[in-house]
Amino acid sequence: MAHRIAILDGDGIGPEVIAEALKVLDRLESLHGFSTTRNAYDLGGRRYAATGEVLNDDTLEELRGHDALFVGAVGTPSVPPGVLERGLLLRLRFAFDQYINLRPVKLYPGVTSPIAGLTPEQCNFVVVRENTEGLYAGAGGMLYRGTPHEVATQESLNTRRGAERTLRYAFELATTRAKRITLVHKTNVLSYAGDMWMRAFNEIGDADYPTIAREYAHVDAACLYFITQPQRFDVVVTDNLFGDIITDVAAGVQGGIGLAASANLDPTRTSPSLFEPIHGSAPDITGQQKADPVAAIMSLGQMLAFLGETDAAHTVDRATGALLAQRNGRTPNGSDYTTKDVGDAYVALIDGGI
Ligand code: IPM
Ligand code: MN
Repeated sequence: MAHRIAILDGDGIGPEVIAEALKVLDRLESLHGFSTTRNAYDLGGRRYAATGEVLNDDTLEELRGHDALFVGAVGTPSVPPGVLERGLLLRLRFAFDQYINLRPVKLYPGVTSPIAGLTPEQCNFVVVRENTEGLYAGAGGMLYRGTPHEVATQESLNTRRGAERTLRYAFELATTRAKRITLVHKTNVLSYAGDMWMRAFNEIGDADYPTIAREYAHVDAACLYFITQPQRFDVVVTDNLFGDIITDVAAGVQGGIGLAASANLDPTRTSPSLFEPIHGSAPDITGQQKADPVAAIMSLGQMLAFLGETDAAHTVDRATGALLAQRNGRTPNGSDYTTKDVGDAYVALIDGGI
């Protein structure tokens, strides 16, 4: 059966990187014998500027009828901050209960990390970020806005169920990897949320995953260790905002935002999951073929793995490894090597039987 994919290529460099990823998908389909139906949706800043609408209920329901959503980037400079983030990306995460945000952090051979001397053996972990609660829940309010007396509160909502399902996902992942897990939080200051996460972590670990080694790091220390000792980590589990912040640090360590993929998962498969590179729409380089499509292609790999196309996902990973080794630090930004050249190189590697 064909996988039903909604394509939201979005704004800025989104369409450029998605075009290359779809070229790769075409090749993978013929090589591995599966098929997709692809429906394009025009959502994001362009659409908002033209219609004043971010995401209406009918479109949301149409999207629900897919197996996966594949997103390029959303955001144009003319749209005020928060409109598209809350109205589109977070709305999809919440409506489809995509409670896991999965972000692999892997330094591939041939990629130069800004951390001098860092080797691929020392940097291969994955961050499991809770994706529907915490400070992203939108709880809080304002009083006397715009006056000298204004008050703003922004509350972090943490449910035991939300923490537990995230922790269980992460423990399960740890059983398939190095059998080590690190909780990242700020228990020394966030005594309520931190206490609940820590107790849930220890209780689930003791009861159901006694063979998984548990560690804990405060979020500030984790930022430091990501840079100085990334080999400390294998599976990292954390809350929503901490996960957002530390995965940008991690993206830098693994060679830049052009190489960082992410999956927003509903592991129960009740609703579609969403796959996107973590970079934004990069309006400064839009339309110039300077965007690196590797992150989008890695996200495609995550999508295929989640859809059960394991062989195709492995092909993407092998091709990514070969491409990054072969291009030896060259990226589309700052050379005559283009976005399209990267897509073509993937196709050549796949056709060559990588
Ligand atoms: C990310 C992004 C989003 C987030 C924004 C665009 C809402 O930064 O996916 O990391 O904060 O989660
Ligand atoms: Mn982010």
